[in-house]
Parts: sequence; structure tokens; C-alpha cells
Amino acid sequence: MCGIVGYIGGKEVYPILIDGLKRLEYRGYDSSGVAVFCANVPHIYKVKGKISDLERFIGDNPKKGTLGIGHTRWATHGEPNDINAHPHISMKGKFVIVHNGIIENYATLKKKLVNRGYTFKSETDTEVLANLIEYIYEFGKVSATDAVRFALNKVQGAYGIAVICTDECDKLIVARNSSPLVIGVGEKEFYVGSDATPFVQYTNNVIYLDNENMAVLTRNGKVDIKTIKNDVIKPEIQTVDLNFDEIEKGGYSHFMLKEIYEQPKSISDTIRGRVDLTHNSIVLGGLMPVMSKIMNARRIIIVGCGTSWHAGIMGEYLFEEYSRIPVEVEYASEFRYRDPVINSDDVVIAISQSGETADTLAAVKLAKEKGATVIGICNVVGSSISRETHAGVYTHAGPEIGVASTKAFTAQVMVLAMMALSIGKAKYNIAPEMYMSLLNELITVPQKIEEFLEKPDQVKKIAELYKNSPNFIYLGRGCYYPIALEGALKLKEISYIHATGYPAAEMKHGPIALIDNKMPVVVIAANRRGYDKIVNNVQEVKARKGIIIAIVREGDETISKMADHVIEVPKFTTAIGALITIIPLQLLSYYIAVMRGCNVDQPRNLAKSVTVE
Ligand code: M6R
Repeated sequence: MCGIVGYIGGKEVYPILIDGLKRLEYRGYDSSGVAVFCANVPHIYKVKGKISDLERFIGDNPKKGTLGIGHTRWATHGEPNDINAHPHISMKGKFVIVHNGIIENYATLKKKLVNRGYTFKSETDTEVLANLIEYIYEFGKVSATDAVRFALNKVQGAYGIAVICTDECDKLIVARNSSPLVIGVGEKEFYVGSDATPFVQYTNNVIYLDNENMAVLTRNGKVDIKTIKNDVIKPEIQTVDLNFDEIEKGGYSHFMLKEIYEQPKSISDTIRGRVDLTHNSIVLGGLMPVMSKIMNARRIIIVGCGTSWHAGIMGEYLFEEYSRIPVEVEYASEFRYRDPVINSDDVVIAISQSGETADTLAAVKLAKEKGATVIGICNVVGSSISRETHAGVYTHAGPEIGVASTKAFTAQVMVLAMMALSIGKAKYNIAPEMYMSLLNELITVPQKIEEFLEKPDQVKKIAELYKNSPNFIYLGRGCYYPIALEGALKLKEISYIHATGYPAAEMKHGPIALIDNKMPVVVIAANRRGYDKIVNNVQEVKARKGIIIAIVREGDETISKMADHVIEVPKFTTAIGALITIIPLQLLSYYIAVMRGCNVDQPRNLAKSVTVE
């Protein structure tokens, strides 16, 4: 979603802002802009479209200065156009602001400002905030910092903001509430970002701002943090473990392809230091403080959205099979708006790549309020969900830039598998030999994925044949059902082909009506348990002349003979190995999207981190 970048210091600001915005493109946006302060005068450039459009608009001679802010906007209030794009400037030109999030009471505030003579150029809630700050500054005769603080006490909603007052150009003021904001600390200079990617090439020292906190960053290298209630907070500088190469394409044509191919490494990183083969144990350090709560949990509730929700359903199968704890999986967006029955002996697991998804974050807060123990499985270190939860496990998949989640999904499932196994073992639910074979399978997943990725042509050929198909159906049984859902989601989000994922046995209760000789049906048919049943489902499709694309284990005989196309994955024996079957589906959607000329890394209308409800 929207992205913020900012800088104050001694360097030329324009390249920092533009390069920073390019690094934030992955979040999804529809317009962008920068404000460069030259001799204390703001020069604002903003356009609908991509950063390349903005660069073209600005031309070869941008204004020079050492203070500025920039923004990528994903429209919420008002359509994507040049006027609604950020930065916004207040009516009398005193404050320039960029904002992520939504000011929920903007209409009431706007009405009051209109009554006091304010006029508005845009339809945005952000311009309301700019004018509110200016009104307080002028009417209350307070400092710029206090004007921002007082204004933030009047707004309801989510914000990450960067503000500059034209009377106080030695300062960059930032604040956050439920919308991330990170400060990069350099030598007498500060960087600002919605995450650390815009500035990680300059510094790894960061300050994560907490909710309802604001920071005043000054040119002489001083940082003052306080709450919006005026309580002073001691700045805590941390080191962010983010490598510049990780956020580059590294020779791949798209981030998504790079991230698909990174999975052998990212999964190894997820399990590294956690699986101890000398003692045949799994140690998830982040869960230690809540281990007894998990062991005695009456129920586990997993919440997440999109791909993370699919990982949650995989988790349900793994937990129930190996830990024998009842599990419910909920869309975070539904969970939070019900009045769910939650008890203190429930454990809620929130899964989120970004750690910033608004619905998941709200579900975390609700579960905490109701007394549950809340665990986070996040990829982005220091993200809001990882900080709101009682305990957690980082997936360590590395930065995921492609909007379509790939390596984050496999890492999430691996974390869930490690949790299920360690709990199952501790509760004596898994026989020792079984535990050993599961552990062995777990550690060989990266190598098997690597093997599969060496032969992408089998997938490419199928993509070529069906790239123009308007619909796809994905079927799976048991733990292949969430794989089917995830495969269908991947295809629809990047190729804009309608795809539906279904439990294979449910097909006959409705979707079977869609099957004819033009319908590609992807069947994840790698089951050992219930293989005969999936054979039946394949027959049902064949009887209606549907086109079967079967994902099978190497050496499969029955379904391979029935299917129109077969994709073989390396042999595996347990539900943990089943994860491998998502790789051909990720590749299939990738190739189809590329062949259809789609923007794979930034699909239309989508955002990487969905920070609005
Ligand atoms: O960052 P999160 O894991 O919380 O994001 C949840 C969904 O928005 C995300 O998985 C989305 O569905 C992806 N675009 C899927 O590829």
C-alpha cells in the first residue's frame, strides 16, 4: 500500500527520494510524488502513474536541496490523479505532508475547517490533516511540533506521516499509529521509510516508531521522540538485518521469479538454528515464554488473510495430525467483526508476511483483549504484528518484493510444521520413528524444491497451451486443498484469469457444472492417503471432458495415465513434504502471467501490504 520516504541531512535529497520510492513500488500504488525543499521553499511534483512517469514529469533538472519527502499512493479517498497524489500542502503553504493510512473522522474535521474558511484542492483525508495542523499552528501560535501533536490528538484512524513546516526547515517531523514508520539513523542525517528498504543502502541503524509516537529529526543529528500525549520516549536504535542485494532482482526478470527460485535458501533460513539433528529436536526460541500455554491450549485459532490464511489451513492439518490440538482457521477480517468466543486457554496464531495487515493486526488486538495468548508468525522483523503479540517466530524468508506471495508462504508453512512437530513430540503424540521420518522430510524440503526448479520447462509448456483460457479450477484433498486455494489465488492475482480452488470432493456439489472440454482443471494428486479418492475425482472431471493437469509424485502410474498433462515433483512421504507441490503452481501462474504480458510484480489494484481494513 502507500509508501513514505523522507530525508534530512547533508546529501542531495532528490535521488534519495526517487530511489527510495522505487524500492517501495512493490507495495502497490497508483500515483506518486516528492517535495524537495530548496532554500526553504517546497517544490512539489506529483503525478498519477508510475515513478517513471514522475521522473519524466520532473525532467533532468530537479530542484536541489537536502530536505524532502516522497510518497507512493494507493487510492482510498478520491481517485488516483495528480491532485489527490501526495505530498499535500496546507492552504497557506505552511505545512507539507505525506500520509499512509486513513483518517476516519476526516469528514467532521473537514467541515469544521471549512467553517473556519479553509478550502481544499483534493478529495483526500491527508489534505484535511495538513490544514488541521496549519490551523492549530496559526490559531494556537504553537511550534510546528506541537501543532502536529495537537492535531494527531484530534484524529481518529491510522496514520504514518512525515511533515515539514516551511517556517522550520531544520526539522522533519514523523509520527505513526497503526501504519508503519521506520527511521534510518545516519551521521548527522536521518532517513524515513514505511519500511527500511528505501534507505538500507545508506544505513542499517533504525528506530521503529511505536503507535501514537512522534519523532522530531533535526539536521544536527538530534532525534526527540515523544508520545502524542507528550511523554518523552528514549530512542532505541536497532540494527536491521537487511541486505541491499536482497532487494535487487539479481539477474531475474521479475522479483516473483527470483523469490520462487530463492525458496531452497529461504526455507533453509527458516529452519536454520531451529532444527537440531544432533539431538533430534526443534527449538523455537521465540515461543519459549508461552510454551506451557501452547502445550495446554484448549484450542488453537489461526488468523490471517490471503496467502497467509492458506498457510493457516496447512497449519490446521499439521497441528491436528501431529499435535492433536483442535484448530480453527479464520479470515482475520471476519474474525475481528464477529464477537468470537475466546477464552484464556485459547492460543491465537496470527500469520502475516508483512506483519502490517490491518485486519490481522486488529484480530491480534481483539484476541489479546479477550485474554488469549497470541503468537505471531511474521516475516518482516519489527513489524506491528510481531510487536503486538505475546510471542512469535520470524519466518526469516528475506524481503519479499513481488506482490504475489511465494517464499513467504513456504516459510510460514515450515514454521507451522516445526511448531506442530515440536508440540506433538512434547505431548507424546508422535511415535519416535514417525517423528524421525518427519524431521528428515522437513530438512530435505529445500533440496527437493531445488531439484524441481531445475526443470521448469514442463511447467512452461503447459502455460503456453492454456495461457488464454478464461477460467481454471484447482482441486486438492486434505493438505492439498490449501495448496489448490493458493495455486488459484496466484493465478488470478497476477494473470487476471478467473481461477477457483476447491476441495476435490466438493466439486460434485456445484463447480462440476463448469466443466467442459475447454476447462483446465489442475489437480494436486500427490496424496498417499486417499489416493483412490483423488483418482475418482479425476475420473469425474474426465467423464465431462475436462482437461486434467495433474501434479503427481515421481513414479506415479495411475493418475499420470489418466491426465492430459502431468507435472512430477520429487518423491516425499509425509504431509510436510506436500509443501513441494505449491512450487509448480507458483511457476505456472508466473509463466502464464508473463506470456499474457501482465505486470507480474505489481499486479493491478493489489498492494503488498494491506494496511487499510
Ligand atoms: O502480509 P500478509 O501476509 O498479512 O498479507 C496477507 C495478504 O494480503 C497476502 O497474502 C495477499 O493475499 C498476497 N497478495 C497473496 O499473494
